[in-house]
Amino acid sequence: MAGLKKAVPFTLLIASTVLAFDCSKPPIYVDIHKRAVRGTNILQYGSFIGFGTPSQNQSLFPSLRQNETSVASGDFCGRSQLRNCEGETHGTFDASFSRSWIEDKTYRSLDSSQLSNASTFGTDSGHLYTHFFETNPATVNTVDNFSLEVVSSSSSNPGVIGFGAASTLLQKIYAAGLIAGRTYSLYIGAGMDRAGGVVNGSNTFGGFDSGRFTGPVFTNQIDTSSADPLAVTVTDIILDDPTGLTRNVSLMDSVRFPNISSVAQGFTARITTDQYPMTFPPQITENFMSLLTAVETDPNEVPDHSLRITKSFAGTMTIVLSDGFRVTLPPEMVSNSTGLSPVASGNFNWNGSPMEENIFYLGASWLSQVYLMIDYEAYNFHLAQAVVENKYVMPTTWCPKSIPVAKSAESESDFGANGLVGAVLGGVIGGIAFIACCVIGILYLLRYRTVKKMERLEAEEGMKKRQYQDMEDGSSSDGSVKGPSRDHSTERIHPRGVFGAWRK
Ligand SMILES: *[C@@H]1O[C@H](CO)[C@@H](O)[C@H](O)[C@H]1NC(C)=O
Ligand SMILES: *[C@@H]1O[C@H](CO)[C@@H](O)[C@H](O)[C@H]1NC(C)=O
Ligand SMILES: *[C@@H]1O[C@H](CO)[C@@H](O)[C@H](O)[C@H]1NC(C)=O
Ligand SMILES: *[C@@H]1O[C@H](CO)[C@@H](O)[C@H](O)[C@H]1NC(C)=O
Ligand SMILES: *[C@@H]1O[C@H](CO)[C@@H](O)[C@H](O)[C@H]1NC(C)=O
Ligand SMILES: *[C@@H]1O[C@H](CO)[C@@H](O)[C@H](O)[C@H]1NC(C)=O
Ligand SMILES: *[C@@H]1O[C@H](CO)[C@@H](O)[C@H](O)[C@H]1NC(C)=O
Ligand SMILES: *[C@@H]1O[C@H](CO)[C@@H](O)[C@H](O)[C@H]1NC(C)=O
Repeated sequence: MAGLKKAVPFTLLIASTVLAFDCSKPPIYVDIHKRAVRGTNILQYGSFIGFGTPSQNQSLFPSLRQNETSVASGDFCGRSQLRNCEGETHGTFDASFSRSWIEDKTYRSLDSSQLSNASTFGTDSGHLYTHFFETNPATVNTVDNFSLEVVSSSSSNPGVIGFGAASTLLQKIYAAGLIAGRTYSLYIGAGMDRAGGVVNGSNTFGGFDSGRFTGPVFTNQIDTSSADPLAVTVTDIILDDPTGLTRNVSLMDSVRFPNISSVAQGFTARITTDQYPMTFPPQITENFMSLLTAVETDPNEVPDHSLRITKSFAGTMTIVLSDGFRVTLPPEMVSNSTGLSPVASGNFNWNGSPMEENIFYLGASWLSQVYLMIDYEAYNFHLAQAVVENKYVMPTTWCPKSIPVAKSAESESDFGANGLVGAVLGGVIGGIAFIACCVIGILYLLRYRTVKKMERLEAEEGMKKRQYQDMEDGSSSDGSVKGPSRDHSTERIHPRGVFGAWRK
């Protein structure tokens, strides 16, 4: 009886915790790929978020550290030392062209280490775009009084959405009732030039893309003591080249490398999107260099200080964490077409600005194989193996404090049972996307083989890189998005035209 009495308040506690979140709210999905932005003709890799009335286009890069969302001012490049400035702003913002901008001179930044000493803070309307299919217009979620940092001078890329522990974006869209809780999931992708890739990424606010990861989910606590709050323990790093001499060699093997002893039991590394390569303790970096005859690079040529492998290496690199989570980087990432490795000699961001010293990082190269899910309601984060070549997008509500579960849609029958249509029925994709998804779904079922054949033929011809103008037909001059087009004739929906929802 005593046990039962105790159980009652406990159950109530759980019930009230669950009740605090409205888990019927669909998540907001914002894809990450190269797109046209304001202020330059250079396409930029990032998330399509526009500010102001009318909306100005930006392509913002996610930061796991910064709390504020920041953009470059219109005159940023004239005043900044940023390398290749035009191609690195991620889109400019001119407050004087916005009817809804309100400057806040008293605002105090939530970021201690500010991006720049030349920022203006204020609020404006923020537009979060979701663009599943190239042939359809984007849909938009608009948030009023969105807090924005406008940077007029900096040596770093100013176009950043902040997903730090005090993320103004997550707080705002949660408070506005747009998402179920302050949860965020990221697949950074590999579409940026440094990754040489074509694989696009995605953000999911208040949810996760259940088709973008697979296998077990590994849970870690958020480290509130650091501005880089996502810390893990690396216990092993293994190089393996089945065709060469370096077979299954651990860089942390204290028999082979006696000088490794102080880090042989593992080291703390922090997950970041601020740099592409990984930085390891110096002993491990030295072992990597000696094993693969890697050398330091010219920072004018390689600003992020990645090491270059000078002899041919066609092997993988596996990073093992203390809880057993393993990430294997494929050979073309370990030594890219120009011999660049994903291991740096120091901490430098994408543009070559130094980052904090004596912190070891797992950068965007590591994240290109990882699906990251952060729960700021439970103060923990989850890691899983990313599905790099995904077929469908399945944005799913993440009820805070629960552990996300992957869905498989690998086969045609899975697809019908719990794939895209299942996600749609779950209330996730509305309106135009729903119809488009159904059409695509039916098309998929009917034309799977035809498409496969087409792909083979196209691959033979060689892929022509298309210039892509986002929202060409989706945005009117006042920044509003056109209503759904009623024309869903199958001819318009070509498999190649799909960004994330259905790769090729
Ligand atoms: C990624 O997005 C770009 C648009 O910038 C598109 O052209 C490309 O096809 C997409 N890649 C994949 C693999 O979906
Ligand atoms: C936003 O992007 C669209 C499509 O690329 C373009 O037509 C429009 O002019 C852009 N808006 C601004 C303010 O640059
Ligand atoms: C972001 O906010 C968190 C929580 O207040 C804080 O610990 C962290 O240092 C902030 N990030 C930066 C870059 O200042
Ligand atoms: C602050 O701004 C001035 C010019 O506006 C610049 O010379 C200086 O390097 C900046 N300092 C930092 C730390 O960014
Ligand atoms: C936006 O902020 C302004 C000034 O802080 C305030 O007067 C206004 O009511 C806010 N609007 C909304 C929709 O919250
Ligand atoms: C290799 O790295 C260089 C330098 O950043 C980059 O330009 C190139 O696209 C990369 N190639 C591949 C295949 O990743
Ligand atoms: C790699 O080496 C470890 C010990 O360092 C061993 O346990 C493992 O079985 C080896 N794997 C392969 C595929 O040889
Ligand atoms: C550690 O060992 C490696 C490989 O044997 C060597 O290249 C490196 O110089 C050593 N580092 C130190 C600090 O002794």
